[in-house]
Amino acid sequence: MIDISILQQFFAIHFGGEGTPYFAPGRINLIGEHTDYNGGFVFPGAVTQGISAVINPNGTDTVNLHAIDLKQDCSFNIMDEEGPAATHFRYVYGVVRELLAAGVKVQGFDAVYGGDVPLGVGMSSSAALESCFDFALCDLFGGSLDRMTLARIGQATEHKYVGVKCGIMDQFASMHGRAGLLMRLDCRSGEYQYFPWHPHGYRLLLINSCVKHELVGSPYNERRASCERVAALAGVETLRDCTWDMLETLKPQLAETDYRRARYVLGEVDRVLAVSDTLQRDDYEEVGRQMYLTHEGLSRDYEVSCPELDFLVDEARRLGVSGARLMGGGFGGCTINLVRNELYDSFLTELQQTYRSRFGVDCQPIPVTIGDGARKL
Ligand code: GLA
Repeated sequence: MIDISILQQFFAIHFGGEGTPYFAPGRINLIGEHTDYNGGFVFPGAVTQGISAVINPNGTDTVNLHAIDLKQDCSFNIMDEEGPAATHFRYVYGVVRELLAAGVKVQGFDAVYGGDVPLGVGMSSSAALESCFDFALCDLFGGSLDRMTLARIGQATEHKYVGVKCGIMDQFASMHGRAGLLMRLDCRSGEYQYFPWHPHGYRLLLINSCVKHELVGSPYNERRASCERVAALAGVETLRDCTWDMLETLKPQLAETDYRRARYVLGEVDRVLAVSDTLQRDDYEEVGRQMYLTHEGLSRDYEVSCPELDFLVDEARRLGVSGARLMGGGFGGCTINLVRNELYDSFLTELQQTYRSRFGVDCQPIPVTIGDGARKL
């Protein structure tokens, strides 16, 4: 988390006085990728990195924002039908509009914000931004929406104002995270359980490929459309309700890519359940094995990987890491690695060397700790 006193200094310079501080985190996901919009399971946890904001109602209808990371300002009227053009500011605009539509009496405010969750690496910096403002504005303007409703407002913001037809995982995790606990969310029913994450003898490590991941305007929505086509043909609401038998029966009618994408999703729903059982037995080698299987599916069947991510996962396997896979939407970003403690240093050193000699750029380690969800500081 960035130092709030820095945000307050910027606030004093830009607007005068002080704002109320809020924070919302990014997330990791142990397993369950591209399952959320298919009604399946996900297994995320919030991280300690995220977006912080200091906010003060200003008694007008105008929102004034200063983003310290971008060194950019933006102002809009809360009744403006169009909103700002820059995607970055549309997240905040969308949240304001959706909260108003949900009955929260949002008025104008001044805000300074920034964060330490890396952008575009698959750790949900955009969900952290939405959740931070979502939570803060509901709190500041007397709303009484629960955390799941706030998460859905963040998701609606992505859909309607940014154009990414994402699932609920990222906003859910940012809102519901708890230190030291992962969450298994059933995206069909909305039910969730917390699972302690104390992998004795292992550490989680993210490796940023430094290939910029951008879901806006990406083939992310095409993947979702494939899944929806198969579900419609199978006569079910989402692929969660499509069985292996149904998929095989439909196979002759399906485009080859749609069939492979659906095959990945059915397999991934099964893998999340397998990992839940495995965690009860503290069998982290088996968790890791399932992570590798996920990566194979994401790369070959779902086709959301890239040469850099495949290389990072292949190298992890070669160097004896228990599990590795691309994390988040894909098309770049980072891998998540489950590494035995004794291997950690040598793995990282060797991986950084081989990555540099293969691609001519550095990959970056991002250590993660499982932290709490959106909150007032
Ligand atoms: C992005 C989306 C999520 C989810 C993941 C893939 O992070 O925002 O809803 O679909 O990709 O699991």
